[in-house]
Amino acid sequence: MKLTFLGQSCFLIETMGKKLIIDPMIKSNPLASEIKVEDIKVDYVLLTHGHYDHVADAQQIATNNDAIIISNFEIVGWYEQKGLKGHGMNLGGKFKFDFGMIKYVVGIHSSMLPDGTYGGASGGFVISNDEATIYFAGDTALTMDMQLIPKTCPPLDLAVLPVGDNFTMGYEDAIIASDFIACDQIVGCHFDTFPPIKIDHEVVRKAFKDQNKTIILPQIGQEITV
Ligand code: NI
Ligand code: MN
Repeated sequence: MKLTFLGQSCFLIETMGKKLIIDPMIKSNPLASEIKVEDIKVDYVLLTHGHYDHVADAQQIATNNDAIIISNFEIVGWYEQKGLKGHGMNLGGKFKFDFGMIKYVVGIHSSMLPDGTYGGASGGFVISNDEATIYFAGDTALTMDMQLIPKTCPPLDLAVLPVGDNFTMGYEDAIIASDFIACDQIVGCHFDTFPPIKIDHEVVRKAFKDQNKTIILPQIGQEITV
């Protein structure tokens, strides 16, 4: 499974011959100006919740690629009304797609679509197949529910956790989350895009290292293979 970081919480995922993008906000992210939305080729668009910094380019990417949007029932319904294709899920449910299993898991966060429409419950995705199992937490607080992931999903090879604080958990809570999910290989996201979520990379890396954990704070365009 290969991940490419495209800024904020957006990753391109290449696995089992398919391409997925999660939480695309590229054009309105000045840090990601090198990435051309028009050039993105995907089969699926995964959305953890309805906030603008996660869905900004979803419609364009899904339309360009005739891609299937995977998200909660409310968000998928909103895109289906615009003529796009989707697969709606809800918290705790899993479904086997042609690239592997997705479980849509609890996130503690709000969710509203850009036009003010209710965006359903915010969540995260555990993607598992023969290549790897990765948890994308989406925007979330630290929550005890994360302890259910190792009990209900295959062992995690990697977890993508928000670390920017203010709108989500910060790095201290992400270290506790790493214990809850039984995964010491962490990729940070949701940092540096806006002033309130700027982080000191050295402080964060040291805090993880002190707990014998690894965190990658990816540069935009950086590839991570699991
Ligand atoms: Ni959010
Ligand atoms: Mn966000």
